Amino acid sequence: MNKFRLFTDNTMKNKASTASASAVMIALVVVVYLGFFQSVSESHLNTRDADEWQSGIHGTPNSKYKYSWPECERDSSVESISGFNTLPNHIKDFLYYQHCRHFSMLLDAPHKCGGPKGSANVFLLLVIKSSPVNYDRREVLRNTWARERIQNGVWIRRLFISGTQETGYNKKRLNRLLALEQRKYRDILQWDFHDTFFNLTLKQILFLEWMERNCPHVRFMLNGDDDVFANTDNMILYLQNLPDNNGSKHLFAGDVIKGARPIRSTDSKYYVPPQVYDAGPYPSYCGGGGFLLSGFTALKMYNMSLSIPLLPIDDVYLAMCSEKAGLRPESHLGVRTAGLYIPDANADRYDPCYFREMLLVHRFLSVNMYVMWHDIQDPDLNCSPSSVL
Ligand SMILES: *[C@@H]1O[C@H](CO)[C@@H](O)[C@H](O)[C@H]1NC(C)=O
Ligand SMILES: *[C@@H]1O[C@H](CO)[C@@H](O)[C@H](O)[C@H]1NC(C)=O
Ligand SMILES: *[C@@H]1O[C@H](CO)[C@@H](O)[C@H](O)[C@H]1NC(C)=O
Repeated sequence: MNKFRLFTDNTMKNKASTASASAVMIALVVVVYLGFFQSVSESHLNTRDADEWQSGIHGTPNSKYKYSWPECERDSSVESISGFNTLPNHIKDFLYYQHCRHFSMLLDAPHKCGGPKGSANVFLLLVIKSSPVNYDRREVLRNTWARERIQNGVWIRRLFISGTQETGYNKKRLNRLLALEQRKYRDILQWDFHDTFFNLTLKQILFLEWMERNCPHVRFMLNGDDDVFANTDNMILYLQNLPDNNGSKHLFAGDVIKGARPIRSTDSKYYVPPQVYDAGPYPSYCGGGGFLLSGFTALKMYNMSLSIPLLPIDDVYLAMCSEKAGLRPESHLGVRTAGLYIPDANADRYDPCYFREMLLVHRFLSVNMYVMWHDIQDPDLNCSPSSVL
């Protein structure tokens, strides 16, 4: 009776509610505290990254990889190649530095894949070539198709790969931009070489070496430019439905270009003189705007690259590497590195129906990216069969 009265007693009721209020308060404090701990340990992780990177810079004796390399010397013996003096400056420059394969890392993200062992949990790694000045493109991609996420049950991760541009103050300012982006997103690999069109092969090889070290078990990769529209949701479906391939078998799929020959016209961006490449036609290759690779194929390519002199055309070079491993590129109709051909001249070229079924379209301007990424995900989007290109 007394007990019962205790519970009906007003003062006790008040106490009880005070007690439950303080329980709520304690729970809140615990939650806030835990959150605080989490952010502390996260920032601790970041500092640890930076420390590892710093100690790498200064060369810890037991680190397997050197983060810092002496500046690669130019090889003046190339001047004895016949006709060297008649070559355009960027070709001369390429030949002078063709032997250089190691450059110091300015920005690293060694834990991107959760360590070498954890990297099997990354299903699709987006590897996007981006020059320092292309800040706006990176920001748009981070908010659209390159957003890191779990898609259909598997992880998508993102990396931008970059060199340096300009000299002096301008170079410093651009490096600072990348360093600030890195602090926020941890999605940049930067090496200290000049980021030019003819150094793209070097960028690719430096990345593959990094991948072998940090993400060797990643299942698949999209290797592409920062000015493409990639339908990464579709890519996941396509890759998940590959028969009998979880990334441990060959895959090299994109827009395959067959029987191309080196361009000998000096005013082309792609000009390659016989002094650089003197064999017959190029091997079949996937247009460099974007293509898909399995982890298996990427590692094979890297392995083969160690014994093939660099060619300045990066997509052709990777095909040379896969050919040497006996692995062929295959064509995927959803990859349009030459853009979309829309037969109806009056049609809206940005009709999402054209893009919904694609894997990748080059090139695609930033200003249209956000709307397109939004529109293709609209479940109510109604496409007529004629919009399938
Ligand atoms: C490639 O980068 C190296 C290192 O910065 C530079 O010396 C060389 O001139 C670059 N080559 C081309 C063709 O731009
Ligand atoms: C991938 O598939 C191969 C067989 O093709 C199998 O041996 C391997 O264990 C699989 N890997 C994973 C991580 O599931
Ligand atoms: C790379 O090639 C070497 C021999 O040239 C071989 O021992 C090694 O297993 C290869 N690695 C891969 C990943 O194929």
